[in-house]
Amino acid sequence: SEEKPLSGKKVLITAGPTREAIDPVRYISNHSSGKMGYSIAKVAKRLGAEVCLISGPTCLEVPYFIDSYIRVESAKDMFEAVLEKYREYDILIMCAAVADYTPTQSSQEKIKKTQDKLVLELSKTPDILDFLGHNKQPGQIVVGFAAETQNIVDNAYEKLLKKEADVIVANDARRAMGSDENQVYLIFKDKPTVVIEGKKEEVAKELLKRVCELLEK
Ligand code: PMT
Repeated sequence: SEEKPLSGKKVLITAGPTREAIDPVRYISNHSSGKMGYSIAKVAKRLGAEVCLISGPTCLEVPYFIDSYIRVESAKDMFEAVLEKYREYDILIMCAAVADYTPTQSSQEKIKKTQDKLVLELSKTPDILDFLGHNKQPGQIVVGFAAETQNIVDNAYEKLLKKEADVIVANDARRAMGSDENQVYLIFKDKPTVVIEGKKEEVAKELLKRVCELLEK
């Protein structure tokens, strides 16, 4: 039988994209499929954890064997769901591709095609990872992701420092989004970077093992 290094631990995971409404029929989103976050949720459960998955809209089947599943739509919804839950969890893994900007005003009615140009004003969304990094409960481990298209490791290290995460999992956005495999760099403040490559479930397993080691300290 498989080892259960996470038994007795509670893990909160976010996954998938968010959708930011422009009007009742249109939205802004991104190419996240949810596969990476769902893989982490499944493997965390298999490794003995109590698992809560907070997910944006995806086509994936809900992993019925996890302990709690919350489906959300926008960055604001995701932030609210995380806020309600995060205090009780030992490990927080922010894998969702949260929209950084949302339409300042979303129209109540479908926008008509009357103008030649349409300007959308966007406002920053709350940064969930940044909030968690700065509001850590005693003993809590905060794991962030970084999806980059250039200078992956350097940009991710900046996010680690700025958001005060314990680990940043950096990956190439073009390669990671939607695919079944991934290559990630685990970036710590004062430990050498670890590279993991493989199917998303394999990456999840190795990632969770490394995060476990942080808990024991
Ligand atoms: O879903 P898949 O198709 O399997 O693809 C996986 C993935 C590429 C989405 C995943 O591996 C990944 O990299 N997730 C993070 C995507 C992202 O939004 O990265 P970022 O560098 O923009 O954000 C950095 C961190 O801040 C992330 O942990 C993100 O969840 C968090 N964030 C960002 C914005 C915001 N408003 N709130 C946040 O918490």
